[in-house]
Parts: sequence; structure tokens; C-alpha cells
Amino acid sequence: MQLIIAIDGHSSCGKSTLAKGLAKALHYAYLDTGAMYRAVTLYFLDHGIDHNNPDAVDEALRHIEIHFERLQGKNHTFLNGKDVERDIREMRVSALVSPVSTISAVRRAMVAQQKAMGLRRSIVADGRDIGTVVFPDAEVKIFLTADVDVRTSRRHLELAARGIDADWDSIRKNLLERDEIDSTRADSPLRKADDAVVIDNTLLSEEEQLEMALDMVYARMTASRKQNVVK
Ligand code: DC
Repeated sequence: MQLIIAIDGHSSCGKSTLAKGLAKALHYAYLDTGAMYRAVTLYFLDHGIDHNNPDAVDEALRHIEIHFERLQGKNHTFLNGKDVERDIREMRVSALVSPVSTISAVRRAMVAQQKAMGLRRSIVADGRDIGTVVFPDAEVKIFLTADVDVRTSRRHLELAARGIDADWDSIRKNLLERDEIDSTRADSPLRKADDAVVIDNTLLSEEEQLEMALDMVYARMTASRKQNVVK
């Protein structure tokens, strides 16, 4: 059965881990929308684009092509034909990505691509505005959250595993700053969709979180099948 699964939530609360787990279990595609905002930010940094200059932003957006490829079972983000999966996770990108994602022209360009990628459904997408703006008709909507210290430790481990050195305090500060900017921006702020289910995974293992989400998905599939039989 072909569904759209939307996962939103604060920075580093395990959205991508859950989304990848669901995509694998259900044989769905995974759409990492944060990677797209990160790729735009990387382009701005590498090309000296002033994100406060609307003309420069519009011009830059015309030269940005982002796509995903699966390499050895992993999602890789490509910016203008170059694999930037590692570069987009660097702290210099994390430090600027939230301000860049407040720009409406950037959001319009990304959301249009994301909607196109979801046309065939069978997709798990994670981000900040998935259940509210990108796929408001998603059949399953999850809003993830977790304690900020737990999120900081997870991010620290994730970066270390990628060989990126960053200290705990600056990671924590960055997470809180991004949460604040992402939740208070004028254009599509991070908020729980009215029909989303909240999962606080502070005390949950990855397996427990995945199990809860899969239960929701299977319940939704069963409900849809029953509806079709009644019709
Ligand atoms: O999920 P992430 O931490 O990689 O996302 C990086 C930033 O991108 C995040 O701080 C806000 C922005 N973002 C967004 O505005 N909308 C999305 N759908 C996904 C990410």
C-alpha cells in the first residue's frame, strides 16, 4: 500500500534514523529535506552568496541542482553533480542553515521539488514542515521530540562517527539556536500538524521508536483497507 509518512521535529531528535528505518522496513524511498536546505547553504558559503541579498539568492537558486543517489545502501546528497553528503554536515553549514531556511524564495524552490518527489507516494520524508506544508495530506504524521542534552549527545556521536570534530557545548548551543529560528520564522515554522502523533524518544531505543512508528503505519494501512471494503 502506498502511503506518505511525514516526520517533523526539533534538530537532532532522531528524525532521520526513524525515517531511514521506516523506509527500509517498508521498501519506501527516503526524502531528507534537511539535506536540501543544507546543500543550498553549502552553495551560498562556497560561492560567497550573501543570503540577505534577495537578487543574489534568486540568481544562485537558478544555478543549484540537488538530487539524491543511493550508494552502497546509503542516501547521498548531490549538489550540481558533486557528492556533498559529508560537507553538508559540517558545523559551518549547521551554523548558517537555519537563517538560510527562513528565506521564502529558498523554501519555494525546495518545497516544489519535494512535492514532485512525493507524487508517486511510498515515501518517508523528514524535516520541519512536512506534515504542515509539503505533504499536508500525508497518511501518517509523526512529530518527534527528545530532551536537548540527549539530542546533543546523539549529535556528538553522529558527527564523531563521520570523523567531524565538534565540541559538546557548541553542538548544544547550535541545536537550541536552530530550534528557536526554525520554530519562530514567518514562513512555514516548525510546528506539530494538528493530526500528527507526538513521539518523545528521550527514553526510547531506536528499535522501540521504530516499532511504535511501524505500528502506526500498519494501523493506518488496515484502516484504509477496511474503508475500501466498506465502499
Ligand atoms: O534536519 P536537519 O537538521 O538536517 O535540517 C537542517 C536545517 O534545515 C534545519 O535547522 C531547518 C531547515 N529545514 C527546514 O527549514 N525545513 C525542512 N523541511 C527541513 C529542514
